Amino acid sequence: MNTQPKRLRRCQLAVPGSSDKMMAKAAGMQVDHIFLDLEDAVAPAAKVPARAQIVNALNTLDFGTSVRCVRINDLDSHYCYEDIITIVEGAGANLDTILVPKVKSACDVRFVDRLLSQIEGKLGLTRRIGIEVLIEEAEAIMRVEEIAGASTRLEALVFGMGDYSASQGIDPRAISGDTGYPGDIWHYARYKMIVAARTYGLDAVDGPFVNFKDGDYFRTECVRAQQLGAVGKWAIHPSQVAIAQEVFSPSQAEVDRAYKAVAAYREAQQQGLGAIQVDGQMVDVATVRLVQRILDRAEQAGIKPSAEK
Ligand code: COA
Ligand code: MG
Repeated sequence: MNTQPKRLRRCQLAVPGSSDKMMAKAAGMQVDHIFLDLEDAVAPAAKVPARAQIVNALNTLDFGTSVRCVRINDLDSHYCYEDIITIVEGAGANLDTILVPKVKSACDVRFVDRLLSQIEGKLGLTRRIGIEVLIEEAEAIMRVEEIAGASTRLEALVFGMGDYSASQGIDPRAISGDTGYPGDIWHYARYKMIVAARTYGLDAVDGPFVNFKDGDYFRTECVRAQQLGAVGKWAIHPSQVAIAQEVFSPSQAEVDRAYKAVAAYREAQQQGLGAIQVDGQMVDVATVRLVQRILDRAEQAGIKPSAEK
């Protein structure tokens, strides 16, 4: 079970680590989580210089309350170990998490955990850097339970539908809109990953939607993931941020309904009742457990019930 701090991840904004301009722009945005990328958004020739650009961004920009994350290159690439060493030695005190792409097994997570422990020990860092992993290979879906339990540094599993579709052989059109497949083409993978994440107390996050001009379909994808238990979704463009943050925040009406049900249930319990009626709906211990999650998410997002304002 992870022992890392709980962080908001309603939206995780992808920012190319080779772009000083975009990193500066991202730092000024109101977004829960920002990951500075060394992997797919960075061309091979720019990967080594981007490490120094990211170190500089982390050490000089004010990211406000946003979680500061760096996506390294995958473990099968020769970039991986030096990405971790250069970023953490250069900016470990200003970094919250490392995002590891294309993990395939628990061993991959343990490699990163071990290396982080060594660097933290050398630098005397007291705050442990967290790990987030991308579940985007067929092997990762097969072994997602083992991956989710691999390290106490783990904070989040992210479903990367682009690479996952390539790995499984899913219709490539799926990443930018409706393919006509009946239902959600990634339902099994999304569902399975979220079950594993919840089992180990990790955040489940939904990956990118590349067709960033189509805000309506992006919202549909956010809602699909949210309904299954994901806490957030990536944004690849600033225009997607507000949509994700809205969908993954409970509405005031939902919070008020949940608050009312919990308060009525507590009162009923005092009178020795186990099941009651609130506004035409049965409320018992199981329904309270369901709506308590809405109240927990609201508290994390700073949304108060109207009755407490
Ligand atoms: N983070 C921060 N700023 C971003 C941004 C991002 N992900 N994407 C775009 N912007 C900025 C642009 O620099 C531009 O800033 P300006 O108005 O100050 O010039 C503004 O937002 C509007 O951008 P726009 O002109 O609409 O798009 P673009 O052509 O500059 O960029 C992409 C489009 C797709 C290249 C860009 O959004 C991007 O690189 N996204 C992230 C890609 C990525 O990280 N992929 C890997 C993870 S899947
Ligand atoms: Mg990927």
